Amino acid sequence: MLETMRWLSGEECLELLDQTKLPGEIVYIKCFDHRDVASAIKNMVVRGAPAIGAAAAYGLVLAASGAVANKREIFLKEMETAARELAATRPTAVNLSWALTQLLQELGGATGDPTEFKGLLLEEAHTIFNEDILGNRRIGQYGQELVPQDGNILTHCNAGALATAGYGTALGVVRAAHAAGKNISVYAGETRPLLQGARLTALEMLQENIPVTLITDNMAGFLMAKKKVDLVIVGADRIASNGDVANKIGTYGLAVMAEAHNIPFYVAAPFSTVDLDLKNGSGIPIEERDQWEVTHHGGHLLAPAGIKVWNPAFDVTPHNLITAIITDRGIVQSPYGENLREM
Ligand code: MRU
Repeated sequence: MLETMRWLSGEECLELLDQTKLPGEIVYIKCFDHRDVASAIKNMVVRGAPAIGAAAAYGLVLAASGAVANKREIFLKEMETAARELAATRPTAVNLSWALTQLLQELGGATGDPTEFKGLLLEEAHTIFNEDILGNRRIGQYGQELVPQDGNILTHCNAGALATAGYGTALGVVRAAHAAGKNISVYAGETRPLLQGARLTALEMLQENIPVTLITDNMAGFLMAKKKVDLVIVGADRIASNGDVANKIGTYGLAVMAEAHNIPFYVAAPFSTVDLDLKNGSGIPIEERDQWEVTHHGGHLLAPAGIKVWNPAFDVTPHNLITAIITDRGIVQSPYGENLREM
């Protein structure tokens, strides 16, 4: 399994696997300050909701290393500014601001000299990283119970080890089902425009010897009609308190098609992806990315020059299309509002 990120204590830097180069090249880049991390998140070197949360946490540690203030109040202001810069990189995944808030809260309660605060932040960043992996393993255990002994699973984008600190959420369920001896096979939707399904999910499944078949996004409906899908499992970037789910663009379409074909549609995500402050999905900020992602691939122009483009990176699936949400605390079903709050 490829490592998404690692903290190098000797060099005091964060190393990130450059996911824009996968599957062709395995290249790690070093981030020495929080601005390096912010640009890596923005440019999708590191991506996936839990992974960008953990990377941002380490980014704040780097900001603390570079801080010049020796007065507590000024140091805290510097940290808040750095946290705002990191949080602004990608607006949809709540894990980013969640992780930064965890670190800022830790600082808020700390007394003493700012020189001691860096160690505190690093410890908290490691905790976020390690707990993400443990949480994903729990998601895997809960979720694999929902996978039949023989099952074809359709997934979208990449909600695997590469999108998290390790193991994955949707692909964590797949991994756990495979490890439990279930005879499963995966259909990976390629996920235009940036092809996380083709480049990343397909790679992860091949590396683990889990049978995988690649399809283009527009094949999903026919695949379902041909009865080749037993269940759909996707990840999430933000879950509103009523269970509406923001995830990679194309997820909503899959949920509508799954409903039409009577196929269970599951979302797998850690509880840190749940935003209880949001009443429903209409309040989720949806990132819109540059038009070249749609008009170009690998430096080639795919459409007439100057064409108008709409490029939302995520969509919102209403809770009524979701069979269950698999979290690290257990499986949640409708009524989501009540059950998520209780959990
Ligand atoms: O734009 P990306 O590649 O960051 O989008 C990733 C997704 O939409 C994932 O499904 C989501 O973040 C969950 S990752 C466990």
